[in-house]
Amino acid sequence: MDYQLNLDWQAFLQNYWQKRPLLIKQGLRQFIDPLTPDELAGLAMENEVDCRLVSQKNGRWDVSHGPFESYDHLGEKDWSLLVQAVNHWHHPSAALMQPFRVLSDWRIDDLMVSFSVPGGGVGPHLDQYDVFIIQGMGRRRWRVGEKVPMKQHCPHPDLLQVDSFDAIIDEEMEPGDVLYIPPGFPHEGYAIEDSLNYSVGFRAPNTRELFSSFADYLLANDLGSYRYSDPNLASRENPALVQKNELSGLHSMMSELLAQPEVFQQWFGEFISQSRHELDIAPPEPPYESDEIYELMKQGENIHRLNGLRVIRIGDQCFVNGELMDTPHINATDVLCHHYEINAEMFGEAIDDVRFISLLTALINSGYWYFND
Ligand code: SIN
Ligand code: CO
Repeated sequence: MDYQLNLDWQAFLQNYWQKRPLLIKQGLRQFIDPLTPDELAGLAMENEVDCRLVSQKNGRWDVSHGPFESYDHLGEKDWSLLVQAVNHWHHPSAALMQPFRVLSDWRIDDLMVSFSVPGGGVGPHLDQYDVFIIQGMGRRRWRVGEKVPMKQHCPHPDLLQVDSFDAIIDEEMEPGDVLYIPPGFPHEGYAIEDSLNYSVGFRAPNTRELFSSFADYLLANDLGSYRYSDPNLASRENPALVQKNELSGLHSMMSELLAQPEVFQQWFGEFISQSRHELDIAPPEPPYESDEIYELMKQGENIHRLNGLRVIRIGDQCFVNGELMDTPHINATDVLCHHYEINAEMFGEAIDDVRFISLLTALINSGYWYFND
């Protein structure tokens, strides 16, 4: 299924992205759900899948974490099942992410899918990230409030909520309606009928995560071994004082390392090409030989990218799942970055370079790309 979003991206970026929430009525016309509530419930029974059930009874909230063995204990009202990274586990659902690639692959995170029975929802809350909430089957009332400082509280240890708020958007969403919410705008959705909702979530690292990952990169690559030295140390009055020039010398040690463009780019490529959620990796058994890959592709077999795999280009470098693809064939690696299904011709002359085929073989044997059986 090919999903097309009925949206003027230019105007959206200028007026709404990271600024204001927007209801896009019938953003996805004649919407067809990529999965059923039963399929979602089945996914939430799998060990690898991250999911939770949120319910409410007379204002008392409850949260339980999957995998779930049964749903028999649930009534007909006031609960919601939320499953993370469904795009990794369910191929047709992954297609829902495609229209949002306009906003760049590195900023997109995952597709969270929720199923709610009447009254079901997670309560009023804020998110740190941008989200597009797509209404699938059923109707659900969504309210969004103004971004103002709000106190958060936990009605349950695993649930962060805000107090009730005045709505600037209040709408009974119908299948195909899309609601964009920038970070920090309070919102809540309550199902009116059994409902499916698809949340295309974005990621935006904070400075703490960046520093922490950069430090890991230094350790893994044995960088930053330069040690503080002070051949011109002068005697001082106050032995307890770190002098200004000493402090700035230490600051320089750190900022000079950050200021090296190659180091920064290589680290960031590795960092941002890692998924925040588990991948459904199934390496081929037995692994392929290089000449088999070459033959299959030459015979017209296409390769497909594993859903959720992050393949990101920075400058002339392409990164996949935390690793640099080391090859001079930038056009061919760019094809890997850009397309989800690839045939031999798209790789151009690279297909006839044994070194490129051996890179491709490694990627396929890692389970990152695969041939359809
Ligand atoms: C949902 O309930 O489907 C989405 C929850 C949210 O607002 O983040
Ligand atoms: Co939310």
